[in-house]
Amino acid sequence: MNDEPILSARGLRLSFGAVRALDDVSIDLWPGEVLAIVGESGSGKSTLLRVLAGETRPDAGSVTYGDPQGGTRDVHGMTEAARRRLARTEWGFVHQDPRDGLRMAVSAGGNVGERLMAVGDRHYGNIREEAARWLERVEIPRSRIDDAPRLFSGGMRQRLQIARTLVTRPRLVFMDEPTGGLDVSVQARLLDLIRALVADLGIAVILVTHDIAAARLLAHRMVVMRQGRVVEEGLTDRVLDDPRHPYTQLLVSSVLAA
Ligand SMILES: Nc1ncnc2c1ncn2[C@@H]1O[C@H](COP(=O)(O)OP(=O)(O)OP(=O)(O)O)[C@@H](O)[C@H]1O
Ligand SMILES: [Mg+2]
Repeated sequence: MNDEPILSARGLRLSFGAVRALDDVSIDLWPGEVLAIVGESGSGKSTLLRVLAGETRPDAGSVTYGDPQGGTRDVHGMTEAARRRLARTEWGFVHQDPRDGLRMAVSAGGNVGERLMAVGDRHYGNIREEAARWLERVEIPRSRIDDAPRLFSGGMRQRLQIARTLVTRPRLVFMDEPTGGLDVSVQARLLDLIRALVADLGIAVILVTHDIAAARLLAHRMVVMRQGRVVEEGLTDRVLDDPRHPYTQLLVSSVLAA
């Protein structure tokens, strides 16, 4: 298999005033692996994701990306232009609020097609056909291709954001609470859809969630954060069935009791 991590973080620290949002966090992610980051509100999950993606600079520590050619790149050492290029091509982002990941006034087909154009596709007919295929893949009828996402429901918007992100087949996708704002019934279908697409495309995913059920369904491995530190990590089934840290035990038992 792949013996080099696709993403590797060492000793990440970041404070906001007196708040230690990240306190010596190290993480490895392998190609094709889904890693869930779970923990209570304020534990540092979103901050960690932004630092891993190079959007926020840590006070200390490093993030290294293993590129497809077998080289490694320092995520916080590259230029902003280089990082943006990676974000457009080899990486993808699924935001909790689809409005942050979509262009609300542009048609659904345009939202998907735009990503294809960004990686160099120039043939209008191909782009439109590929966009239509992706809409169907995320269960949006082809007939809605010219509608803008502001006319879509919350669940449809989130599925559109996923189509826009995955159409270019990124190797690495960052997701922050992708089912966060949705009804429980809509969440379950969306999680199934994400699971199928991620497995099919073999994408590596870092999934931030406070939803243990989502982590159970999607993730191979998970890390549990508390107050900016990783307090436990391991294979998802091991962590959830045999939690070792008292905080993980509390997290798992409180979900079971709910
Ligand atoms: N830009 C910022 N300025 C000041 N404090 C911040 C900033 N971003 C995050 N924090 C603080 O860092 C800590 C971690 O926040 P973060 O958003 O990473 O938590 P989280 O685990 O994603 O929480 P949630 O589950 O509520 O989204 C919190 O105490 C938060 O208030
Ligand atoms: Mg968050």
